[in-house]
Amino acid sequence: MRIGVLTGGGDAPGLNAVIRAVVKAAHNCGIDCVGLEDSFDGLIEPDRSRRLTPRDVTGILRLGGTILGTTNRGNPFAYPVATSEGTHDYSDRVVEMFHKMGLGAVIVIGGDGTLAIGHRFFCRGIPVVGVPKTIDNDIVGTTNCFGFDTAVAFATDAIDRLHTTAEAHHRIMVVEVMGRYTGWIALYSGVAGGADAILIPEIPFEIEKVAARLKERERLGAKFSIVVVAEGAFPKGGTLSLVEKAREGRVERLGGIGAQVCEALGRTTGKETRSVVLGHLQRGGAPTSFDRVLATRFGAKAVELVRSGEFGTMVAFAPPDIVARRLDEVVGKTRIVPSDFDLVATAKSLGVTFGD
Ligand code: F6P
Repeated sequence: MRIGVLTGGGDAPGLNAVIRAVVKAAHNCGIDCVGLEDSFDGLIEPDRSRRLTPRDVTGILRLGGTILGTTNRGNPFAYPVATSEGTHDYSDRVVEMFHKMGLGAVIVIGGDGTLAIGHRFFCRGIPVVGVPKTIDNDIVGTTNCFGFDTAVAFATDAIDRLHTTAEAHHRIMVVEVMGRYTGWIALYSGVAGGADAILIPEIPFEIEKVAARLKERERLGAKFSIVVVAEGAFPKGGTLSLVEKAREGRVERLGGIGAQVCEALGRTTGKETRSVVLGHLQRGGAPTSFDRVLATRFGAKAVELVRSGEFGTMVAFAPPDIVARRLDEVVGKTRIVPSDFDLVATAKSLGVTFGD
């Protein structure tokens, strides 16, 4: 048997660890692997794929990025093209190429968008197994996606560094983190880094309430504060802050709320404020040991599902087990921070404000 493996959407630390696990586990049970380049482009264009042997994946466990390349503009059902058409449907070609290449299945490693594409191809007869990937940790059906722990570790380190400069200058430091429409990275890094305010999309904030809490801290003797803002956070009654609207084949890009919160807090508290955007630094670098282990378990489980013919599924973490979920039950949904999540309550009990 021969299977294809691809990585789609934004990269996340641990992608290479999954590829390595897939290739090694497959090889050890006599399955050949073909690496498809730049997401589904490897099934659209000829010569955008290569055979992967265990030797090809030696030494990549600890590497960020993906040896296969990735793109979040490569949806074969609506591929952006530079004509008046805007997008083109290459899905027939993908199905044709899949058969021409002699593949028996494809392991699709990606976030919600890529998994949704994988599910559409499963409905077109291609045996697909998905592996959930995103630093945002917003995929339904799994408690963790690999990449999230690494992003949180990086953001926590950044918050630690901001603490010392904030304290030295008696400033309010605002740090904007990624997460799209969810506040998982902000919440975990905010708690781990000891932030004084954490603003997340699930809890629209009132800037006056944030300012009041920071002023109270000042009265109690704390001359500085740290505010962690998720890129998708927005004020009560307000809207998301975008740096780019959605257009043909491209999703909207979030950003800018950190600077707005920084300006508003400076105005309302009278204190010196500075803001920093962590951006793509959160996606770079070596995966943490947790993400390496999770990615390795995901890769091996994906091969197991291929062997047992459980297609149209996604591997998932349901601690302590790695399980299979049906793709049609997870795609098109977003796993948000629940309003009764205990970590929110814990943070509040310690005096952290969410601006609500
Ligand atoms: O989904 C991962 C993510 O890093 C989000 O947190 C962020 O909003 C987005 O991707 C950024 O995408 P791009 O790499 O296209 O700028």
